[in-house]
Amino acid sequence: MKGIIFNLLEDVVSRHHGEATWDKFLDETGLDGAYTSLGTYPDDDLGRLVQTISIAFGIPPRECVRWFGREAMPLLAKRYPVFFTGHKTTLPFIYSVNSIIHPEVRKIHPGANCPVFRFEETTDGALLLGYESPRPFCALAEGFIEGAANYFSETAAVEHLRCRSKGDPECLLSIRVHAMATADVVPLAR
Ligand code: HEM
Repeated sequence: MKGIIFNLLEDVVSRHHGEATWDKFLDETGLDGAYTSLGTYPDDDLGRLVQTISIAFGIPPRECVRWFGREAMPLLAKRYPVFFTGHKTTLPFIYSVNSIIHPEVRKIHPGANCPVFRFEETTDGALLLGYESPRPFCALAEGFIEGAANYFSETAAVEHLRCRSKGDPECLLSIRVHAMATADVVPLAR
């Protein structure tokens, strides 16, 4: 996994729980935490960190990954504003991940192994997203989608219709995006 993902995890944990908590997690996992954004590190490092965080916060690992994805999206928007400024709403942004964002990421971060998505629209207005990756990070996709909706002042109801973690042959997410009720809009620092 690229170092930027570890950098984002460190930022999210430190913002919410302080830098000392991140250092404690590194101590507990025995990792040194020296992740450069362009470096590539074992997926297992991420797995170990997620396991440790999940035990510390008392939330299942998949929920932990989803939370991380949700909180990381505004940080990605700060680092890569160009991927966000062309969009006003969530769905066109999600479509652009396959066609623009991840292809660009593969150029900026040589060796990046980003997932590919298969899209399908249902007659009742949901977007189906097939997550194609050799990795088990569909919960990260879920969190990224929720975080993106939040960024665009919308809400996304994401349902995991199929998941390889449950023995299904593929991971399939159903996404329904709605405008946020005005009272719920939390202004984001962009
Ligand atoms: C809703 C939007 C997005 C979704 C659903 C998404 C999904 C994912 C997922 C699930 C992964 C983990 C790797 C895997 O599962 O194979 C990933 C990796 C990655 N994504 Fe995205 N992504 C989104 C937007 C972005 C944006 C805006 C950026 C910003 C540049 C980005 C950059 C990356 C990078 C750098 C990796 C690491 C690749 C690697 O370690 O090899 N993604 N993405």
